[in-house]
Amino acid sequence: MELAAYLTQRTKVVDRALNRFLPKETVKPVTLHKAMRYSIFAGGKRLRPVLTLAAAEACGGSLDAALPAACAVECIHTYSLIHDDLPCMDDDDLRRGRPTNHKVFGDGVAVLAGDALLTVAFEILAKAAPSKRYGTAAQITELAHASGSRWLVGGQVADLEGEGKKLSGADLQYIHRCKTAALLTSSIRLGAMSANATPEQLKALTTFGQSVGLAFQVIDDILDVTQSSEKLGKTAGKDVHAQKATYPAIHGLEKSRKEAHRLTALAHRSLAIFGGKGSDLRALADYLLAREY
Ligand code: IPE
Ligand code: IPE
Ligand code: MG
Ligand code: MG
Ligand code: MG
Repeated sequence: MELAAYLTQRTKVVDRALNRFLPKETVKPVTLHKAMRYSIFAGGKRLRPVLTLAAAEACGGSLDAALPAACAVECIHTYSLIHDDLPCMDDDDLRRGRPTNHKVFGDGVAVLAGDALLTVAFEILAKAAPSKRYGTAAQITELAHASGSRWLVGGQVADLEGEGKKLSGADLQYIHRCKTAALLTSSIRLGAMSANATPEQLKALTTFGQSVGLAFQVIDDILDVTQSSEKLGKTAGKDVHAQKATYPAIHGLEKSRKEAHRLTALAHRSLAIFGGKGSDLRALADYLLAREY
């Protein structure tokens, strides 16, 4: 299937499931549920859930079995964006082409909408059917680990602490692996787990996830300096302004682009054992590299 049509179709499937899993806007407290839905349905690219579904299929699993995990990772991702945009963090006004959550609902509700999305992610994942090799506890532990203090949250701390500092390439890679690559890797691993992946398949997909996950943040850094806010749907040029540690800032644009290509090639190689069943994942890795927003 052509990639654009594939992405549109998968996004629809994910959005329908998210709509089922999240409390309706009319449920009390109305403001909170409105705020959660405002950011979830603001038009994100849905790359993490799409990767979850593609990983499940590569392992011979079904979309239905992978959908709770796909929705759970999108809830974690969206919560992390709401908090990332807060005045006490990156202080952003624009996200997914709309005013940021705290600009519309105020800082307090934005913090709480993030908290609630983080929590509901685990409620959704807890409803997923366990596969033979990976029970509910294993899947929940997987998501908690990637989202927690060692990875996503830890990376966000290192990102804040890195502002205004000239970090080494290794320190920068640590931040990017933690704040972004870990959840992307986990999105893929959870898809594999829902499909009862063999240990060999899970290992290959972990390497795939780590490579595309790091490439993803390298590209995000590049786009911040090369694209407009209109195109990105979020404020461009903010990393330089905040003196963030980024790939272009530390390595320059050309070396950063080369690194993203190198990581994508590595990702392709890790899919060898899947043969033709890895073609959607290969196309997605190429899309992540070539994306313009
Ligand atoms: C942005 O992620 C935040 C990063 C981890 C770089 P995405 O570029 O996937 O954002 P959405 O979901 O499409 O809004
Ligand atoms: C965001 O990194 C990482 C997480 C939200 C965990 P950025 O701060 O670079 O993301 P954008 O550029 O605001 O989307
Ligand atoms: Mg940030
Ligand atoms: Mg940010
Ligand atoms: Mg960024």
